[in-house]
Amino acid sequence: MTELLKINGDMFEKFISEEQIRGRIKELAARINADYSGRIPIFIGVLNGAFIFLSDLIREISIDCEIDFFKLSSYGDAKISSGQVKLLKDLDCQVSGRDIIVVEDIVDSGLSIAFTKKIIEKENPKSLKFVSLLLKKGIPKIDFTIDYIGFEIPRDFVIGYGLDYAQKVRNLKSIYRITPHGTARPE
Ligand code: PRP
Repeated sequence: MTELLKINGDMFEKFISEEQIRGRIKELAARINADYSGRIPIFIGVLNGAFIFLSDLIREISIDCEIDFFKLSSYGDAKISSGQVKLLKDLDCQVSGRDIIVVEDIVDSGLSIAFTKKIIEKENPKSLKFVSLLLKKGIPKIDFTIDYIGFEIPRDFVIGYGLDYAQKVRNLKSIYRITPHGTARPE
């Protein structure tokens, strides 16, 4: 039976399990290990959402690497992007001449990743690639490729495994999506 969760009056169903996430991360990491063999990339996690994905991904990375973080915000507590991406914490590392891999939990409207790309490119990296655990289908806002994609998903609102609902539920081990009916009937 589908596992259901009720949060703030909305019903969510289990969508991608812990096991599926773990398996896919191993596959992505294997590709990154092969592609970056002999290099020392810097993984840049986009906070807050990517912190769990990055920490699981990095433990499957067997080549030498470094880590840094950006902090962006565009959603606040809402389900739909405000359309305005704010930089809340800049990078500490030197990007110039380095192989950079940006790590996102989700590319939804594409605004955050496009904003990140612009900022990093200004610093002249040697190379720049993107990994996202989730990619929503049919994103109008990006004209570049996400190099490593965990799961391509429909345009439903999803939570868990780093993704929040009004800042909560990031600690769920699996990913849940809002049910087709969205809001639960009053009890
Ligand atoms: C979420 C998520 C991505 C971004 C994706 O961040 O972590 O960074 O939205 O959405 P987009 O493609 O529409 O820009 P959010 O701004 O909610 O902050 P958070 O990471 O702290 O949850």
